[in-house]
Amino acid sequence: MKHLHLVGLLLLSCTCPLLCAAQREAAALVRWKASLDGAADRSLGPWSMANSTRLCRWRYITCDSAGHLTELNLGGATLNGTLDELNFSAFPHMEELTLSRNDLYGTIPAGIGNLTSLVVLRILDNPSLRGAIPRTIGQLKHLAVLELDCLGLGGSLPEEIGNLTSLENLNLNLVVLTGSIPPTIGMLVKLRVLDLENNNLTGSIPMEIGNMTEVQYMHFQDNYLEGDLPGTISHLINLRELDVSGNQLGGHILLEFRNSSLLNMVDIAKNNFSGMFPPSVCIGGALRFLDARYNGFTGIRHQTFQNCTTLQYVDFTANNIVAELRECFSDHPKWLSTVAFSQNQLYGTLLTDQGEDLLCNLTSLSLLDLSSNALHGDLPKCFWDLPNLGLVDLSSNSFSGVVPFSRTCQENLNYLLLANNHFRGTFPLSLKKCINLVALDLGGNSFSGTIPSWASMSLPKLNFLRLSSNMFGGIIPQEILQFRLLRVLDLSRNKLTGSVPDDFTNLTAMAQEQESPGIIYADPDFFGKRIHIVWKNVNYAYSLQISAVAGIDLSGNSLSQEIPKGLTTLLGLRYLNLSGNHLSGCIPEDIGNLVLLESLDLSGNQLSGEIPPSLSALKSISVLNFSSNGLSGRIPTGSQLQVLDDPSIYSNNPGLCGFPLEDCINSSTPAQSETSLDEDREALWVYCFVAAGFIFGFWLYWASSFFAARPGGVHSTSMWTTCNPR
Ligand SMILES: *[C@@H]1O[C@H](CO)[C@@H](O)[C@H](O)[C@H]1NC(C)=O
Ligand SMILES: *[C@@H]1O[C@H](CO)[C@@H](O)[C@H](O)[C@H]1NC(C)=O
Ligand SMILES: *[C@@H]1O[C@H](CO)[C@@H](O)[C@H](O)[C@H]1NC(C)=O
Ligand SMILES: *[C@@H]1O[C@H](CO)[C@@H](O)[C@H](O)[C@H]1NC(C)=O
Ligand SMILES: *[C@@H]1O[C@H](CO)[C@@H](O)[C@H](O)[C@H]1NC(C)=O
Ligand SMILES: *[C@@H]1O[C@H](CO)[C@@H](O)[C@H](O)[C@H]1NC(C)=O
Ligand SMILES: *[C@@H]1O[C@H](CO)[C@@H](O)[C@H](O)[C@H]1NC(C)=O
Ligand SMILES: *[C@@H]1O[C@H](CO)[C@@H](O)[C@H](O)[C@H]1NC(C)=O
Ligand SMILES: *[C@@H]1O[C@H](CO)[C@@H](O)[C@H](O)[C@H]1NC(C)=O
Ligand SMILES: *[C@@H]1O[C@H](CO)[C@@H](O)[C@H](O)[C@H]1NC(C)=O
Ligand SMILES: *[C@@H]1O[C@H](CO)[C@@H](O)[C@H](O)[C@H]1NC(C)=O
Ligand SMILES: *[C@@H]1O[C@H](CO)[C@@H](O)[C@H](O)[C@H]1NC(C)=O
Repeated sequence: MKHLHLVGLLLLSCTCPLLCAAQREAAALVRWKASLDGAADRSLGPWSMANSTRLCRWRYITCDSAGHLTELNLGGATLNGTLDELNFSAFPHMEELTLSRNDLYGTIPAGIGNLTSLVVLRILDNPSLRGAIPRTIGQLKHLAVLELDCLGLGGSLPEEIGNLTSLENLNLNLVVLTGSIPPTIGMLVKLRVLDLENNNLTGSIPMEIGNMTEVQYMHFQDNYLEGDLPGTISHLINLRELDVSGNQLGGHILLEFRNSSLLNMVDIAKNNFSGMFPPSVCIGGALRFLDARYNGFTGIRHQTFQNCTTLQYVDFTANNIVAELRECFSDHPKWLSTVAFSQNQLYGTLLTDQGEDLLCNLTSLSLLDLSSNALHGDLPKCFWDLPNLGLVDLSSNSFSGVVPFSRTCQENLNYLLLANNHFRGTFPLSLKKCINLVALDLGGNSFSGTIPSWASMSLPKLNFLRLSSNMFGGIIPQEILQFRLLRVLDLSRNKLTGSVPDDFTNLTAMAQEQESPGIIYADPDFFGKRIHIVWKNVNYAYSLQISAVAGIDLSGNSLSQEIPKGLTTLLGLRYLNLSGNHLSGCIPEDIGNLVLLESLDLSGNQLSGEIPPSLSALKSISVLNFSSNGLSGRIPTGSQLQVLDDPSIYSNNPGLCGFPLEDCINSSTPAQSETSLDEDREALWVYCFVAAGFIFGFWLYWASSFFAARPGGVHSTSMWTTCNPR
């Protein structure tokens, strides 16, 4: 209160107009400061009327030579309060106002329209600000930069935005705007950056945007926009980036790219576009990045990529493209570094018309994802020689033959995913040199022979190894336990014999809990290679980048002898499947040590003895199967075990009793022998079932999709803000 009196006195006593203006500015600031949370005293320190004559030396303030306040930059000043008490009319000379990264709440007052000289307005990252963008914003005639990212606003973009005819940068990322984009936006003819991403905008993209001929970056991604992509975009001769991904746009794309000589990035992924992909997309001559994933395109015209001499990344994952592979690739530029056509209906082979290997000239290729198509034929030998190739995913096609032999393996090869094809022959010897391989999936083929003992030595970085559903035979080599980084080992449904190897000390990645949960619900937006797995009867996307799930599946083989006790030292295990083998002896007493275990299947073996009481320590177990063994005694009890009340998970073990089976009876009675007769019949039935081909197992199916991080150079990163997590 005291300094408010002082304000009055000073204002009364001021005679010189300049001093007067400065006093008014100081008074307005001091008054606002008083409305803020007490902590503002610390950050705004010297802001006081006692110091008002030295306003231009106050912290956060810049003046012009005439002593007028021109800039107020309070970015990161940790202010907590509202803007209600800030008298914007007191700053007729203010050109720049920055309020970013504070804890402002309340609304943006209409009075902000009184900052008539304002050129730059930045209010980023104040998530508690509510309300809407005030219509008076349209009064800021000189405004060139308007950045309102990461606020908690709502409301629609006012049509008065069209009055800001000096505007060059409009960044309204995550504001969160609702309603439609006003057609008046087309009046912003000086605009260079239009960023409306991450809002709840609906309606169509107005065709008036074609009037913004200076625009270079146009970002509409992640809204609810619908309708066509306006053809007027063809007029934007300065356009460099167009991103409309993650909307509900549709129809055929009828854009003409003849005048788009600067366009280097087009992202139309995750919409509902259909028909033929526009063949002229590259005609401007600068396109580097093209992402058309998750749409309904049905075709690509022959030679669409003929003039794409600068193209590096192409992704058509999950469309309905019916085309011969070589049509998509013909005249491919040799600097193409990424290519994803997963989940389409491509057919043909990896050969050209002339019978040459299609891939061999793509020396820049770093990603090749052709999974889930209808391709056939052999794998060309040269794929081992492509120096930049980091990921090869050819799974779920009809490729066949023997994986060609090579003495070399390029050091960039991290992911080799060949599952669900008709490959045959032995475990590929060429892998011996692939020292950087992280994931190897040969599942669902016709590979045979033994699992080589050199594998763990040669592939020291392997995280993920799946050889399931092949015809691998012989014993599991002891060396399989030397993969120090291995988190997923799936050898299920082969013809493996002998015992389960038993010294687990070097399987270190499975011995501890991994940091992140690892299994991500299927999310097409997730960056990074994911392998779809079926786990606990649900489809999951297993991310190799942040995966943490550790598991072992040896089911459906002919393994015998006891379950090695050392398995219980793999404390990171979340699933263990040893079902459908000939394992005998007891369940390891310390099975309860595997506290992270969510799924445990030991069914269809010859295990005997009692179920160890420690089982009740498995607090996370949700899938359990002990059926069809020779187990006996009382089923342990425990909180999570009481939830698993389906008796079939213990069925066909003649000697088991207790919940969820029948109560245990101490002395033998006639009733009991009747039960065991029943159970014998059931056992016979289950035995036939097992013999007919065991279909349990978690890893039945996989398909994959890929989205590598975008090429760094495409986005001018400084231009886009990201919200700081608080
Ligand atoms: C006035 O401002 C100066 C710095 O410009 C500061 O050192 C001084 O403490 C301030 N005085 C008051 C009373 O805030
Ligand atoms: C801001 O101040 C209010 C009231 O003093 C308080 O409840 C709130 O926790 C503060 N917020 C932050 C982020 O400090
Ligand atoms: C705000 O500042 C203007 C200009 O200095 C002045 O005319 C007006 O009275 C002030 N309003 C308030 C509420 O102080
Ligand atoms: C400031 O803005 C408010 C709200 O738009 C308006 O009512 C008021 O007249 C303006 N004051 C001045 C001094 O321009
Ligand atoms: C925006 O959409 C999301 C998801 O539909 C919804 O949760 C959110 O409440 C919406 N926000 C506003 C401001 O409408
Ligand atoms: C500002 O925009 C509104 C709505 O678009 C319009 O009616 C008004 O005439 C414009 N004002 C000025 C000063 O251009
Ligand atoms: C803006 O675009 C619309 C539709 O494309 C057009 O009819 C109108 O003439 C354009 N306005 C100006 C000023 O160019
Ligand atoms: C491309 O530019 C030429 C010359 O400026 C112009 O005549 C033509 O209409 C433009 N084409 C499109 C599709 O905008
Ligand atoms: C996607 O487009 C097709 C026509 O190509 C239409 O039948 C379908 O309803 C659209 N889907 C959505 C979700 O808009
Ligand atoms: C590629 O460029 C040539 C020469 O400019 C042109 O004749 C041809 O039509 C272009 N192809 C495509 C698919 O745009
Ligand atoms: C690969 O490049 C060689 C030499 O540049 C060329 O002769 C050959 O036709 C190319 N092969 C393919 C499939 O493009
Ligand atoms: C574990 O690895 C070390 C180092 O390679 C080796 O000496 C040791 O024999 C391995 N232990 C087992 C049980 O295989």
